[in-house]
Amino acid sequence: MPKLVIDNRQIEVPADTKVIEAARQLGIVIPRFCYHPALGSVGACRVCAVAFKEGPVKGIQMSCMVDALDGMVVSTTDPEAVDFRRHVIEWLMLNHPHDCPVCDEGGHCLLQDTTVSGGHGLRRYLGRKRTHVDQDLGPLVQHEMNRCIQCYRCARFYQEYCGYRDLGVLGIGSRVWFGRSAAGRLDSPFAGNLIDICPTGVYTDKPSRYFGRRWDFQRAPSLCLHCSLGCNLVASARYRQVVRHEARPNDAVNGYFICDRGRYGHAYASLEARPRQALVQGKPTEMEEVLNQAAQRLQNTTEQFGPGSVAVVASPRSSLETLAMLAQACRQNQWQAPVAAMTAREAENLHTAVARLKPSLAVSLGAVASARTVVVIGADPLNEAPMLALSLRQAQRRGGHVTVIDPRGIRLPLPFDHLAVHPAHMGSVLEYLIRAIEPGRAGQPVPALPDAIDPGSLKALADRLAHSRGAVVVCGTDMVTAQEVSLAAELAETLRQADVDATLFFTLAGANAFAVGLGFAPAAGVETLITKIEAGTVHALVAAESDVWWRYPDRSRLQAALERLDLLVVLDYLASPLGEKAQIFIPTRTIYETGGRWINQEGRLQTAQTVLKGGEPVAVTGG
Ligand code: SF4
Ligand code: FES
Repeated sequence: MPKLVIDNRQIEVPADTKVIEAARQLGIVIPRFCYHPALGSVGACRVCAVAFKEGPVKGIQMSCMVDALDGMVVSTTDPEAVDFRRHVIEWLMLNHPHDCPVCDEGGHCLLQDTTVSGGHGLRRYLGRKRTHVDQDLGPLVQHEMNRCIQCYRCARFYQEYCGYRDLGVLGIGSRVWFGRSAAGRLDSPFAGNLIDICPTGVYTDKPSRYFGRRWDFQRAPSLCLHCSLGCNLVASARYRQVVRHEARPNDAVNGYFICDRGRYGHAYASLEARPRQALVQGKPTEMEEVLNQAAQRLQNTTEQFGPGSVAVVASPRSSLETLAMLAQACRQNQWQAPVAAMTAREAENLHTAVARLKPSLAVSLGAVASARTVVVIGADPLNEAPMLALSLRQAQRRGGHVTVIDPRGIRLPLPFDHLAVHPAHMGSVLEYLIRAIEPGRAGQPVPALPDAIDPGSLKALADRLAHSRGAVVVCGTDMVTAQEVSLAAELAETLRQADVDATLFFTLAGANAFAVGLGFAPAAGVETLITKIEAGTVHALVAAESDVWWRYPDRSRLQAALERLDLLVVLDYLASPLGEKAQIFIPTRTIYETGGRWINQEGRLQTAQTVLKGGEPVAVTGG
């Protein structure tokens, strides 16, 4: 481990650490534009110059391009280095429009901060500036090319990190620019990260354009609830309206990025149509009165038909606090334990996955990016857990190999092997892999495979897994069966027995599905509930933030069952057909208004803080 001195302070860092990173570990921030920890070094902007005073490297050099070596003595405050950086900033600013007063990036702009802190305060250049025509990049990302400083972060992120090709470097010489060959919506489902990664205001958040400056917003650490990964983000609100999400770095989960579903999926909290009024039989009623009526009518049902006549549906999108309160209400009143708002198959798969995901087998999303071999079984990462697709891409870029076993036309932004296996044969394929890898079975026959499956490709996969230096078994919980969920866990365990450093990663059906699987609701789905309503055992139903209307496929059966109920109480912050059918509707608050805790698919407990107190946005009320 090389030992070096930076600004008179000694540090020891692992080999291959760049000087800019070694300085960061000491708390010394060297200016940077093109360097980004997720993208690495490219040496394009020249603003990270420092003076190498002693040791194997001498003179003014770029700290992002030089490996930390034994005996180095580095100064970031050397007058020559400071002067060099000031000149670089002045050159970079020659063509910049200096439009900070009207730029949405103003106030959180790396270029603005670095220009000011670098000491470039006087514009000496009086000539004409180079200008570009901006492109329409779709409804989410605003393009303002004149602000570009040619750091190449955007093109490297978009093409190398994410694997999409429709945005890149165009032009030549001093006319280089960054965009699409033709204007149009960006293809990548991660395109919103351009906004965070561009160190100036070339790409800004279009839906929140001109809503305010960074310091105008109420901001707090929050979480994405749009899949089970629990990506970390910062939510911003102004005038009682949630206006923006930005990625919040977390190495163990989402790294520096989030997907566009997470970035832009906040409008539901501020919609004019969001249900905010407590209702009894559809009539607006004071909240206290509604709560009293709900309590009284549930008590009446309990007294008339027994405690088992009241059922509760819990949702995999609710916070841990909500789930805990529902479970407590059921216990205290001796009602039936909450049922999960999912189909029986989904619920069984979920409970099996949570039971089989031992802490020693669980792997973080961040660690998937370093896997050598990944096998994805019955999961569609881009749709079910988009940031998983980005982690798989990083694994592949680092030399890892990805195989997907799934009957669907799975698309991923990386080269991968696809074994299109019929759902009926998924179990046989998993058993084949387990038996082929199991230690002590060398030379013994493996289970026969259905005719439609090519044994050669499975044998190659088994060999690759058995000889991998780090394998991850990814399994969905949607289209597979509970037995296949178990077999996926067994595959990871068998790899462990074969001395492979193997881990297990399930994609689940909701932001807090893991908590539901932990026991906040038993392994019963909506079918069980409907059967009980049909049988006349359940007379009252409390549905809390539950999406049964969208999740349960047989709507006519569901509708008929709901009509048999004496009482339907719905608590939600979303409008839904279920809410419209409720005799009592109680509006609830969103993650932005309550904060709370959620457990992601890895079993990681995470906290969201309150962003705003609530209330209708000023854009709706007009004041
Ligand atoms: Fe860098 Fe932004 Fe210019 Fe891309 S657009 S090169 S990220 S300054
Ligand atoms: Fe080192 Fe750009 S950050 S050259």
